[in-house]
Amino acid sequence: MTDRISELLSQLTLEEKAALCTGASPWRTVAVDRLGLASIIVADGPHGLRRSRDVESLITESHPATCFPVAAALSASWNVELAYEMGQALADEAIALHTDIILGPGMNIKRSPLCGRNFEYFSEDPLLAGEMAAALINGIQSKGVGTSLKHFAVNNQETRRFSVNAVVDERTLYEIYLAGFEIAIKKGNPWTIMCAYNRVNGDFCAENAYLLTHVLRERWGYEGFVMSDWGAVHDRVRSVMAGLELEMPGPSPHRTQALIEAVQKGELDESVLNVAVERLLKIILKAQETPKGNQPLNVEGNHALARRVASECIVLLKNKDDLLPLKGTEHVAVIGQAATTPVYQGGGSSHINSTVVDAALPFLQQEGEVQYIVGDASVEVDSVAIAECVQIAESADVAVLFIALPASIESEGYDRPHLSLTPQQVALIQAVARTHTRTVVVLNNGSALDMREWIDEVDAVLEAWLPGQAGAGAISDILYGKVNPSAKVGETFPLKLQDIPAQLNFPGEGNEVRYGEGLYVGYRAFEAMGQAVLFPFGFGLSYTQFAYSDLQVSATAFGIADALEVSLNVTNVGAVAGQEVVQVYVHDVASKLKRPYKELKAFTKVSLAPQETKHVTLTLNDRAFSYYHPAYGQWIAEAGAFDILVGSSSADIHLSQQVELTQGTRLPSLLNEDSLLSEWMEDPQGAALVQPLLDSTFKDVNEDDLGVNMVDFFKDLPLKTLLGFNGASLEQSPDVIVRDLLSKITA
Ligand code: BGC
Repeated sequence: MTDRISELLSQLTLEEKAALCTGASPWRTVAVDRLGLASIIVADGPHGLRRSRDVESLITESHPATCFPVAAALSASWNVELAYEMGQALADEAIALHTDIILGPGMNIKRSPLCGRNFEYFSEDPLLAGEMAAALINGIQSKGVGTSLKHFAVNNQETRRFSVNAVVDERTLYEIYLAGFEIAIKKGNPWTIMCAYNRVNGDFCAENAYLLTHVLRERWGYEGFVMSDWGAVHDRVRSVMAGLELEMPGPSPHRTQALIEAVQKGELDESVLNVAVERLLKIILKAQETPKGNQPLNVEGNHALARRVASECIVLLKNKDDLLPLKGTEHVAVIGQAATTPVYQGGGSSHINSTVVDAALPFLQQEGEVQYIVGDASVEVDSVAIAECVQIAESADVAVLFIALPASIESEGYDRPHLSLTPQQVALIQAVARTHTRTVVVLNNGSALDMREWIDEVDAVLEAWLPGQAGAGAISDILYGKVNPSAKVGETFPLKLQDIPAQLNFPGEGNEVRYGEGLYVGYRAFEAMGQAVLFPFGFGLSYTQFAYSDLQVSATAFGIADALEVSLNVTNVGAVAGQEVVQVYVHDVASKLKRPYKELKAFTKVSLAPQETKHVTLTLNDRAFSYYHPAYGQWIAEAGAFDILVGSSSADIHLSQQVELTQGTRLPSLLNEDSLLSEWMEDPQGAALVQPLLDSTFKDVNEDDLGVNMVDFFKDLPLKTLLGFNGASLEQSPDVIVRDLLSKITA
């Protein structure tokens, strides 16, 4: 502890310490003037600053700030350097706008595309989500501004988000819902973490000692502080005891009083409060090391950066006969209100008062001859409007439809009822696509869509997500080939909602949602079920093509402590410069517990001139081969064969090589008095001990009498029961024999 913190801790009264644990206002911490301790200011997050002009008021106008692409878009860039750069710009804006901590990034896994807040989250895959979040955090914090990684944890739906109890098994929790947080925390070390509103396995996240203390502090060694989501605390004393340092929003004098009284009555040990205050002080003092308000907002520079980021986030999903890029010589019919009134960010706490907002139409008009019509102002089918659009489309060479999911369907606060566009949008796309004019659809939305009704009829599709205030320029750049698209979806686009296993339990019943699909989220699910998808995880097209060759692995037989280097050549075999996202998946050939067929374990983005080849190297460490085994309560890697699969999406694997893990994680024996024969046989020490007993038990047995293989037939019997079948010939009771065997197992 630094001197200043110990000095403050010794001088603060009980009342002051309790007060520090709740906000002084919705957006700032308590100041203690007599000790010279100032408050710090927090603001949403995550893809731009929503810094209230009045930090004393919960909902007021916020200062203008740059709205960058949302997390769903950013993750599609698969570009960690870019996320870092965006983080630095966010920090600059925080400094300009007197903000100490940005409330983001959002790290929750996209369990279902219906989650209304998916636009604020990165991916269905914890590695992609964790790496992108870590990069953003590192970028922001490199400038002395803090972050709040949210919402910890298992906040994967908006329905009943304030109360729902997410029931998740331990393995799924660690492998899917905590793994991304773990990566972001270990690689990014966010100054703060924001707990979620919901409950996890019974306890509210704000009062969940398992999550806040066991996982966060004991397992991961996290040293920052945890704040509540706004209004997530139910029992202030329990929450402090569970490991929640700051309750937001404030002020909340009765909460402060509750803490004071709990200490006075001996219900809360003051040392627990001291630890909380110490954690708070550490970050408050750290935040104050970076002076705020001493630089102006770089409106133009950050707008330009937002455009550059957006241009790496927009995914080319379909491009029949290379319709795109447009040449500029075509007569283009531009249809859809999103071309003039851009839908570029989501609704709710992340809603930014943007400095400038670009619309696509003026950019397109600079590129060539364009005729514009609104077309989709109504939600319900409007045949007159459709007929007008068809007429304009028919006289054009290419129709570009701007189709945005309305905020009434997708936002923080509620989940989507379905995966479709509005009836008018579907009818409009179909009508225009059925003209003789070739058709491009540009989409603005935060998560996967059901496109079955129209995808086969259109020629090209750009998934532009919610690309931020400068997204329009990026869309135009991609449509006209000034930028070669290089993004890939960070989530699977299923054919239909019913294909998603989570759908069976989404959004749960009453106040409970069971994560019955377990590990089978996103591509892990579709692969396990052999389910066809519309666009696989990691998929995205380019205006050029790439060839993969020369896969080399640093060792074909390796131990768990060795890092494995995977290297290969990627060549741009097309005519234009481009960027490719190289994805490395690992398939465990045989494992004691079922595993998803393959999982993403490393990725990199490489930039290539036409005909250029680059040699890329990616590293796989022990985690790449491990899974969480609940019986051991830890991550384990089992010795045996693994396939290293290198691809351009989860479904397009170009190179593979098998490697052998010769020595897995050393594990204690799990054998006990009730263990089954099969469990004894699977245990390396147990098998050796039990074999002589088996030989004697079965020595007089003729397998033909039962027509079975005896060991297989009895393998799921407890060993002691099996021994009892031969009781007359035993010198000791089966219990004693088993206990004796157990005593010979060494740790
Ligand atoms: C949201 C958080 C947000 C907070 C403050 C909550 O309702 O869930 O993500 O940071 O409000 O606006």
